[in-house]
Amino acid sequence: MHLVDRWYAAALSADIGAAPFARTICGRAIVFFRSPSGRLAALEDRCAHRHAPLSLGAVKGEAIQCGYHGLCFDAAGACVHIPAQASIPPRARVEAFAVREAHGWVWVWIGDAARADPALIPTWPWFSDPAWRGFQLYFHVNAAAQLFVDNLLDLSHVAFTHKDSIGAASAADADAKLEVAAEGDEVRGRRLLRGVDPGPFIASWGNFPGRIDRTSSFTWRPPSNMEIRAEFNDERRKITIMVINPITPETETTSHFWIGWARDFALGDDALTARARIENTQVILEDVRLIEAQQRVLSARPGLAAVPINADGALIAVHKVLERLRRAAA
Ligand code: FES
Ligand SMILES: [Fe+2]
Repeated sequence: MHLVDRWYAAALSADIGAAPFARTICGRAIVFFRSPSGRLAALEDRCAHRHAPLSLGAVKGEAIQCGYHGLCFDAAGACVHIPAQASIPPRARVEAFAVREAHGWVWVWIGDAARADPALIPTWPWFSDPAWRGFQLYFHVNAAAQLFVDNLLDLSHVAFTHKDSIGAASAADADAKLEVAAEGDEVRGRRLLRGVDPGPFIASWGNFPGRIDRTSSFTWRPPSNMEIRAEFNDERRKITIMVINPITPETETTSHFWIGWARDFALGDDALTARARIENTQVILEDVRLIEAQQRVLSARPGLAAVPINADGALIAVHKVLERLRRAAA
């Protein structure tokens, strides 16, 4: 069951241009469009006439026109035009969702639009702050959104899943300290590793010739937003990378995943930006391979319980918050 009355990341701002953009969010088929005046709209992706998807139509002025018989709907979901007909039946309308843009993402409110408070959208300034340089990438994942959240909450996987990229197998048994604190609806964690092999990508990003200390501090916010501050240092230098992951359910077993990656070093190095895009794609695909396979196992054996280990501390704290929020919403 998806949490309602929440903002979910739906697309990157750049995804929504002159053409209608279809995406399923929490099981709801939604069409996003931007009018020539720049107004962003999110409607149920279904025409009120004979239920063709509106995303197969076109943006026309401030409205979207169905590609079947030409009915037009405005950003509030009201039919504003029927070809060769003067009167518009009051029932000719579709559901409109609250929609906002912030920090390079388009956010849609799933639930009661009257409760859609923009202050609840996470504040992620690193993609417009000149002190940082970064990018945002999208992945479609054939697994439940929560499985990807769980992956990010348990960073002990880095030494194994990412041993050829941002981790190193030799760090697996390092004495990692994981501190977890729940504060209201948020869960924060901090994991510190000292004197470990940085793995090939981080060694090249930071020009680290040998072992480093690495600290990952993360915040999880409901419904499924992760913010990770990763600090890497040796005795000569320290680099910081912000990794931002909104993860949005598409259905119960598929999801939309974004990585926003921003660095505070080598800001003018465009070659590094280009390389980091490719390398982060590899890192995410290393996770996706594991998580999609995990979903196949769980789909074949519904109800399987996990065996918790110490590294699951943050994951268990997050599941508790989610359980509380779901009970409150029921
Ligand atoms: S189904 Fe949309 S106009 Fe007929
Ligand atoms: Fe990972």
